Amino acid sequence: MALKIGVLGSGKGSNFVAIADAIAAGQIPAEVVLVLSDVPDAGILAQAIQRRIPARYVEPGKFKTRFEPHVEERVAAALRDAGVELVVLAGFMRMLRAPLLDAFPRRVINIHPSLLPKHRGLAAWKQALDAGDAVSGCTVHFVDSGMDTGEIIAQAEVPVLPGDTPETLHARIQVAEHRLYPEVVARFARGEIG
Ligand code: GRF
Repeated sequence: MALKIGVLGSGKGSNFVAIADAIAAGQIPAEVVLVLSDVPDAGILAQAIQRRIPARYVEPGKFKTRFEPHVEERVAAALRDAGVELVVLAGFMRMLRAPLLDAFPRRVINIHPSLLPKHRGLAAWKQALDAGDAVSGCTVHFVDSGMDTGEIIAQAEVPVLPGDTPETLHARIQVAEHRLYPEVVARFARGEIG
């Protein structure tokens, strides 16, 4: 049975594309049944529509860093109604709270562009450069109500190279993300993660 996945994203959606392509290639026994974005013109919505996956904009309400509670309840209900079993955050730029987290216990995951617990929050690749790190990478973790604080599921390392700019380091981290995130989703789909 294919694992039903719901995706939330705010940006270009390259991680969503990596997961959708891995599913289409038969590498993950899963199906993306719904893509939601808090940004009306986010690339992730166009990518989903191109793949004929149900996708829509959700007006987030008056807060900048989270959904208004009644909106988050509606998002949780929409995901449940679509039969979603795993919620995948792919470049989603808001924090989640009880309405969604309680509806999907240990079934909301995120990818973050650093080796957590180092460099939580925004532009983590820039934080790594500023700190003079020799190694960076990405982390897939369970989502809790903190910022990038949930239990770590898997990590991939990339080197920081001489002459790296924030852009070149972020690009190298994203290559690693596009390998790691589909691998982790596949482990969920195969029932290997409890
Ligand atoms: C990724 O770098 C991810 O680590 C972070 O947001 C970015 C999303 O990129 N959480 P995309 O929208 O998947 O291309």
